[in-house]
Amino acid sequence: GFYDLLKHHILSWDHLWQRCHIDIKDSERVALVINLHILHLLQTVSPHTIEHDAGVPARGLHGEAYRGHIFWDELFIFPFLNLNIPDITRALLIHRYRRLPEARWAAEQAGYEGAMYPWQSSSDGREETQTLHLNPKSGRWLPDNSHRQRHINIAIAYNIWQYYQSTGDISFLSFYGTEMLIEIARFWASIAQYNHSLDRYEILQVMGPDEFHDAYPDADKPGIDNNAYTNIMAVWVLCRALDAARIVPDDRREAIMERLGLRREEFTRWEEISHKMRVVFHDDGIISQFERYDRLEEFDWEGYRKKYGNIQRLDRILESEGDTTNRYKLSKQADVLMLFYLLSADELQEIFQRLNYPFRYETIPKNINYYLTRTSHGSTLSRVVHAWVLARSNRELSWHLFKEALESDVSDIQGGTTAEGIHLGAMSGTIDLIQRCYAGIETRQDRLQLNPYLPDELKELRFDIFYRQHQIDVTITQSQLSIRSRLSTAPPITIGFRGQVIELKTGDTLELEL
Ligand code: IFM
Repeated sequence: GFYDLLKHHILSWDHLWQRCHIDIKDSERVALVINLHILHLLQTVSPHTIEHDAGVPARGLHGEAYRGHIFWDELFIFPFLNLNIPDITRALLIHRYRRLPEARWAAEQAGYEGAMYPWQSSSDGREETQTLHLNPKSGRWLPDNSHRQRHINIAIAYNIWQYYQSTGDISFLSFYGTEMLIEIARFWASIAQYNHSLDRYEILQVMGPDEFHDAYPDADKPGIDNNAYTNIMAVWVLCRALDAARIVPDDRREAIMERLGLRREEFTRWEEISHKMRVVFHDDGIISQFERYDRLEEFDWEGYRKKYGNIQRLDRILESEGDTTNRYKLSKQADVLMLFYLLSADELQEIFQRLNYPFRYETIPKNINYYLTRTSHGSTLSRVVHAWVLARSNRELSWHLFKEALESDVSDIQGGTTAEGIHLGAMSGTIDLIQRCYAGIETRQDRLQLNPYLPDELKELRFDIFYRQHQIDVTITQSQLSIRSRLSTAPPITIGFRGQVIELKTGDTLELEL
């Protein structure tokens, strides 16, 4: 009967809420919207979906936009799940694993090795990206090259590694994760072409996350070359695939190698590519979004703002004027800056050293300033990334962008897109901004790294996280961090806090001055 169902429904939400809600003091609107975002995330994926072969659609289960397709938005959605209900991430990663044969087939058809996951996918895992799209502003149908966003294969690998770092789930890595990482690494190793004159590897004719550049101006073929995000993260993927192959138990490594017909020479080749991938820079040291980006024209931001007001979708505006975004230095969303979103400064420095490129402390703020002023935030994901990368260097701007990202759906800031479905990547991204970014939580090198840096507007945060079998209560104020691991049978974990390494056993409490 209805009342019985209602009772169970309320109880289930109560249980979910105990684990997932975030207490935010003195900021009523932020607290309200963040918890609303958690609600929508859990409406889409929850303990219910663990048992199903379900993926996580970019627009939730809330509307027909993108026809329920799954994109790289998982990259923004999984971190909160990893630290709260990691079994959901595991199930979603296995959803990808089940589609490995289709991804292998796609790679083979395109002339590559390994597995090439599709930019947009649905039930059977084939490429579902449209080949034409409509510009409602001009009424014209245009070729769509977005399937060239091969970086989806970075997102999947990154998600596998992040899940493993949060959970230490070696069994997942042994039976699913390593196989996917190896097949994805094989794909990157085969798409990378050796340039003899430069003695560097290159990745050509792809698209980066910035969808405003799908070809060179006046080119007769699609794609751009040496997208910095793709090339650098491909190196990261090759390194993690090598790590995974080292970490899994010997018998599993041998079994995976036999099953995949993987030769030791392939490891050698990955090592070589990971030292010689090409990254293009402008003369002043700015990481070039892609090769020859510096030759594009500067865009008249002021003029277009005056003329159109809202210029988030410059692709539509320019096309309706007979022009194209491909001609200008402008981005729909973070592209180079995704590097600083996904990798810590230490990790980036390591990769740059490996590639024998200079990396200075100023590299990060310099690149952030350069690309920030050339971005229209035409995707709701963009503000999340910008708020993140600015969190320590420009707290005011970071908070401003965070607040805008928070309003993506509650205020429908794109003017009409929310009715077609929520933006689950942006919703989850804002939750993650609170939980990992401002709270300064990282799961890296088998440690739970803590380094909170609350914006002035946040007086106190309280939430639970689940890390390597420890259920941990976290409380952060402007001056103190307190964590308490609830009693259980989990083995001790390692905490990293501003240069200190601390062992935490279940039942322990740590009070740290900030
Ligand atoms: O995955 C995103 C992409 O980055 C920008 N356009 C919308 C997609 C789905 O959310």
